[in-house]
Amino acid sequence: MGEVILSAQNVSRDFRIGDGSVVNALKNINIEIEKGKLTVLRGRSGSGKTTLINILGALDKPTKGKVVFGGKDITRFGERRRDNLRRTQMAFVFQSVALMSGLTAFQNVEFGLRLAGYPYSKRTARVKRVMTDVGLDKRMHHRPAEMSGGEQQRTAIARAIAHEPLLVFADEPTAELDTATALHIVRLFKELVAKQDMTIVMTTHDPSMMDIADKVYTLEDGEIIE
Ligand SMILES: Nc1ncnc2c1ncn2[C@@H]1O[C@H](COP(=O)(O)OP(=O)(O)OP(=O)(O)O)[C@@H](O)[C@H]1O
Ligand SMILES: [Mg+2]
Repeated sequence: MGEVILSAQNVSRDFRIGDGSVVNALKNINIEIEKGKLTVLRGRSGSGKTTLINILGALDKPTKGKVVFGGKDITRFGERRRDNLRRTQMAFVFQSVALMSGLTAFQNVEFGLRLAGYPYSKRTARVKRVMTDVGLDKRMHHRPAEMSGGEQQRTAIARAIAHEPLLVFADEPTAELDTATALHIVRLFKELVAKQDMTIVMTTHDPSMMDIADKVYTLEDGEIIE
């Protein structure tokens, strides 16, 4: 096994709902995310994929257990430190693309760089580079409404990876795409992992994605099964 960059150790997450009852969304999860690999979390709807990826990406905290990143338990960090971690070292791609409709693809990616504090003088070159990497050099000046769903999702990926995060989290990034486009996007993800030594954690319920993953964890009812 290579270098473990992120791990969940005995992670449980309970949600208390309106009537006072408790949902055990995650039960004692132990997983390791290897650097430079594409790890897939799979499972049926309601199995806990989103809950787990949100905890791994410091968007949520477990009820019990630790999340260790760079040798430190990030669940103990304060909000500011967690926010900084997300902004500089991590990136997120969601199921529905959240691009800004008034901005072109180029401007959307550039805006992401600005948020991450990427040096001003290097931004334009960097945006062109990643747009080319995702195969959209000819669509840079299109607004989201002037692109296909797959192109929008590739723009969202370009925005996510532009600041060269260590970790990219993608929660069902291909759920709204047809199978061919979805496979294309996941292959692209894999290339980026190989080329830029990024680490990707992706959730999916699509069985056709499994062969592309380096590692697959299956969730069932809040637990990892073999
Ligand atoms: N904020 C919340 N409050 C209460 N229960 C929640 C909350 N978020 C998730 N749950 C419950 O936790 C379980 C896991 O939800 P989660 O969203 O992680 O599933 P999922 O595997 O991502 O499903 P899907 O494939 O439909 O996206 C579900 O039973 C869900 O109802
Ligand atoms: Mg989900």
